[in-house]
Amino acid sequence: MQNFSESNLTVMGVETSCDETAVALYRHGEGIIAEAVYTQLDHARYGGVVPELASRDHVRKLGPMIRQVLAEAELEQQGPDLVAWTRGPGLAGALLVGGSVAVAYAAARGIPTVGVHHMEGHLLSPLLSEAPPAFPFVALLVSGGHTLLVEVAEPGRYRLLGETLDDAAGEAFDKTARLLGLSYPGGPEVARLAEQGDPARFEFPRPMTDRPGLDFSFSGLKTHTRLLIERQPDDPQTRADIAAGFEYAVVETLAIKCRRALKATRLERLVIAGGVSANRRLREGLDSALPGRVYYPAPALCTDNGAMIALAGWFRRTAATRAGLIDVHPRWPLDELPPLEVD
Ligand code: KG4
Ligand code: ZN
Repeated sequence: MQNFSESNLTVMGVETSCDETAVALYRHGEGIIAEAVYTQLDHARYGGVVPELASRDHVRKLGPMIRQVLAEAELEQQGPDLVAWTRGPGLAGALLVGGSVAVAYAAARGIPTVGVHHMEGHLLSPLLSEAPPAFPFVALLVSGGHTLLVEVAEPGRYRLLGETLDDAAGEAFDKTARLLGLSYPGGPEVARLAEQGDPARFEFPRPMTDRPGLDFSFSGLKTHTRLLIERQPDDPQTRADIAAGFEYAVVETLAIKCRRALKATRLERLVIAGGVSANRRLREGLDSALPGRVYYPAPALCTDNGAMIALAGWFRRTAATRAGLIDVHPRWPLDELPPLEVD
């Protein structure tokens, strides 16, 4: 029986909540020792993630990817000590594939598993960087499905400060990309087109910044963009200017709310994580607004990955069980997570 007071466990993280299949091995003190990410591309032609296609791709990819990372770490014989898998939030079918494979693999090896929260994985991912933030901090989590501002006292102690009332920040990028005829996932595509654009040519709103509070709303910005596209001539420069104006509006809106959250909590440090945190303009905007106070995961760890799930599993190791239930939580508010148990 593994002694869970030992902190140098090797944890395998399995991520299948959406359209990335990802596996990683993490060892405390050493960091990531092997990882593999497969981004499903079939969804691009449908303009968004098709849940059934995502599940089938996870089924095809996950087994070989587990073998691949174990081989890379030369751990085929020994295996990991613990398997962490994403229990939610995410697509139910996709979560079930990861959960089933993780629990079956762990049962076959006689090791425990722990189902972890995908957003806790994102939130903790900057701890994997070379200059990790100290606690406490404010976290802005911006992904395809979530936009959350969270006060993080320590791992496992989260207080929700604000969230989106409609679209998530990544979703706004994805929808704007579709309006501009760009492919999915839209964030990187809009950012690329925006490089050639003038953000000042068209005016864009900064939603919900003119009133107090830390919630977000991006659906009005999306409508504004749609009307602008419909009214303007369809030429490459206009499209680039719209992309730049939209991106700048999202960045400024997020920056205003982050500054407000730091002020309200009187905290010093800000952590940005989730897919949209890969956005270069967002990083530049926040760095110049809050010099020396902003922490990000490495770019490859911004979007979905197995390492953040393994890390969250390490923090949640005392909640691990043997061959537990595959009880996925497609909807799972972050502040419903229990505090960490101390070993
Ligand atoms: O965290 P993530 O990989 O998956 C979810 O948990 O949702 O985030 C994916 C989201 C997508 O909406 C994608 O368009 C957005 O992150 N994204 C970006 C960039 N890279 C990814 N948005 C803006 N700029 C980027 N460079
Ligand atoms: Zn994510």
